[in-house]
Amino acid sequence: MSDILFPVKPEIAATAHVNAEQYKAIYARAATDPAGYWAEECKRIAWMKPPTRILSGDFHGDVRVKWFEDGTLNASVSCLDRHLATRGDQVAIIWESDDPNVSTKITYRQLYEQVCRFANALKVLGVRKGDRVCIYLPMVVEAAVAMLACARLGAAHTVVFGGFSPDSLAQRIKDAGVRVLITADEGRRGGRKVPLKANSDAALRQCPDVHSVVVVKVTGGDVPMQTGRDHDYATLCAAASPDCPPTEMNAEDPLFVLYTSGSTGQPKGALHTTGGYMVWASYTHELVFDYRPGEVYWCTADVGWVTGHTYIVYGPLANGATTLMFEGVPTYPDASRFWQVVDKHQVNIFYTAPTAIRSLMREGEAPVEKTSRKSLRLLGSVGEPINPEAWLWYHRVVGEHRCPIVDTWWQTENGGIMISPLIGAIALKPGSATRPLPGVLPVLVDAEGRELEGEVEGNLCIKAPWPGMMRTVYGDHDRFVQTYFSTYKGYYFTGDGARRDADGYFWITGRVDDVINVAGHRMGTAEVESALVAHPKVAEAAVVGFPHDIKGQGIYAYVTLKVGEEPNDALRKELIAWVRKEIGPIAAPDTLQWAPSLPKTRSGKIMRRILRKIAANETDGLGDTSTLADPSVVKDLIEHRAG
Ligand code: WTA
Repeated sequence: MSDILFPVKPEIAATAHVNAEQYKAIYARAATDPAGYWAEECKRIAWMKPPTRILSGDFHGDVRVKWFEDGTLNASVSCLDRHLATRGDQVAIIWESDDPNVSTKITYRQLYEQVCRFANALKVLGVRKGDRVCIYLPMVVEAAVAMLACARLGAAHTVVFGGFSPDSLAQRIKDAGVRVLITADEGRRGGRKVPLKANSDAALRQCPDVHSVVVVKVTGGDVPMQTGRDHDYATLCAAASPDCPPTEMNAEDPLFVLYTSGSTGQPKGALHTTGGYMVWASYTHELVFDYRPGEVYWCTADVGWVTGHTYIVYGPLANGATTLMFEGVPTYPDASRFWQVVDKHQVNIFYTAPTAIRSLMREGEAPVEKTSRKSLRLLGSVGEPINPEAWLWYHRVVGEHRCPIVDTWWQTENGGIMISPLIGAIALKPGSATRPLPGVLPVLVDAEGRELEGEVEGNLCIKAPWPGMMRTVYGDHDRFVQTYFSTYKGYYFTGDGARRDADGYFWITGRVDDVINVAGHRMGTAEVESALVAHPKVAEAAVVGFPHDIKGQGIYAYVTLKVGEEPNDALRKELIAWVRKEIGPIAAPDTLQWAPSLPKTRSGKIMRRILRKIAANETDGLGDTSTLADPSVVKDLIEHRAG
């Protein structure tokens, strides 16, 4: 924890949406009278029938929380139709290609027309209200169009990150009962091509229920099209009507399902509904980024993650913002790219991940300093704890002491930002996400689930429902209750640990479960383990995170081979490549150590605490190893530590 404090600048407090006094007042109001507070705040989105019943349900029993349950709406109307009269010709999306010489701009009116056309095209393919549609696209405008077109029809989208393998894609398609897939010929990232259509074809060999595939031409690469199943996106849209009335949805009807990793089993589909999610997306985008009309806003996430859903598409478009979509990576063609894009499009608000900041920090200040960045007003961070050193560099070098930084803590399950400074109200401390937004009631609990007071470290829970929360795990409500509401009765458990300091600021310390955060990508160690043991030569595997300078956490795998198999370098490479192929490049272990056996308790439970210590090279403080069935295993692992 650093004790440096950056007070709110008076000129910022004077113009921001929320100042310190207002924060106190609205925080108290939202905490004591949530129904009254959200009855007002929900008016920020467009309703067909405004809700009169604001909140029902709580975190007890089978956790059936409902917000705005008698209201009806269509999410795409808030993002498109209602802007046409006032800002139809304003740029909605600036698209910056991987190639620094290519960018395009599309207005709200153009976006509206594209969404309507594509929605009609999907209708022709049989998509109806209540269906699930899978989107496996790179960072192109069509990704946003596809999401909004699904919303327009009342079909839930499930976006799968383009870095996932055919198997991961197939697994999500099957779990969600998808019958229509939207993909591209190829994606482009950092000058390299990503074979999305080929991956889709491979995935669909396992998914006989998918009857239609829409293919967006991105690179123009030569990809085989299967007659009857595969359709060209542009051809479909050209033939479709530009007029598509929005489907009336109940506030609690699904808007999307997004798969996310947990400590056990396969990724689960976090289901978000229409009314509460849209209110939360709009509310948090406006408050946290202090968004003002006319500003250019850039979130560098991928639409395959929740950050892309809420802060590239739904939040900014609901608020009539100009949102920038970037196809590329921070270091291509060189480490100046982010800041060149900022100058080129005069970006005012910039939101990225600590891993990107750390990787740019390594390149020094020159690539940043050769750009102007005068347009920047506010900087944001998301996805993992930001170390004070990276925070201070971001503040000094990128923001030239001028731009406040919002370190925003939240999760896929939350729908949008939960803990973050509001720049007109809350003094900044590098490394702390600071205080909860109005409407969020975080608490720290001990191992028995007792609430802890004052300056303390504990397990981070949320005490009461907020509109943006996920409502269920798709197809498995028991798993939802079990995962989030059973560890500490009556609380939503985040899986994160946190400290609260004397000023009531939260310092997120990271996951306390078996989820790791690799370069801002969330990964379950169990997923990587099950990929490893699927290899014919592997008997057993244990995977842990270890501290990594750039990625935050790296993946460290301990592998026990089947009897008769010989460990060697070729096999090590083969296993790493295997995980890459099974799950996707983001899951490839950084380090793989051969483990003749794994440290287990007498009841056969792997002692991950010890494996984490060895991976982190903290072998002096291994703690109590007396419960191990065979303590000599540990000595061997330490001796042969990899990396
Ligand atoms: C971590 C991403 C510290 C945390 C929006 C959480 C953070 C997980 C922060 C969710 C932050 C996210 N400070 N940790 N500002 N933001 N995290 O679902 O461990 O991909 O539980 O959502 O990322 O990751 P997810």
